[in-house]
Amino acid sequence: LSSLKVKLQAGLRQFPDFPSPGILFEDIMPLFSSHSLHTDLIRALELQIADVFHTSTGEKSDIDVIVGLESRGFLFGPSLALRLGAGFVPVRKQGKLPGSCETEGYEKEYGADNFQMQSDAIKKGQKVIVVDDIIATGGSAAAAGKLVRKLGGDLLGYVCMMELDFLKGRAKLDAPAHTLFSGQEEGSKKNT
Ligand code: PRP
Ligand code: MG
Repeated sequence: LSSLKVKLQAGLRQFPDFPSPGILFEDIMPLFSSHSLHTDLIRALELQIADVFHTSTGEKSDIDVIVGLESRGFLFGPSLALRLGAGFVPVRKQGKLPGSCETEGYEKEYGADNFQMQSDAIKKGQKVIVVDDIIATGGSAAAAGKLVRKLGGDLLGYVCMMELDFLKGRAKLDAPAHTLFSGQEEGSKKNT
């Protein structure tokens, strides 16, 4: 896992002052445009999950559902779910999912927003891991975790590629969170 992390970290790139001054943007897209890095990324996350949740790797893992957060969590969730023999369920921004939904609010840098999940997307007691690209303030991940529990899911925890430690996002989470990398600080704003 550590050699995979070194290779992956070299594939990340940072853009200062994007999307606004003082924000150092972590660009994860080079990890997807390269087949080799993309393969390594999904493998690293799979190994991380097996390591921290003591589940087996491959299609016999005992994780039932991977939940991915719109938008960038959708880059990770489905391929991980296939690898782990789990289902994939999206958390979407409000108004995108039909039928009965549960809703949870979260704070963004500018104002509030709502996340939703379809009420029947998770069965009671299913083992769930929430995945996303980055934990910044932790608001998005916390709201997704609340939705999983409202639906009766057994939230094992969070697995994200990166975390901005200095924002202390994991303090908002009441399930274990595991990340491959830490992002750098520039200015005081959230850098996503
Ligand atoms: C970004 C990022 C995480 C979230 C982290 O999503 O992809 O989902 O912010 O921030 P937080 O920990 O402070 O909640 P965003 O909704 O900004 O954009 P996206 O649609 O590109 O994923
Ligand atoms: Mg996002």
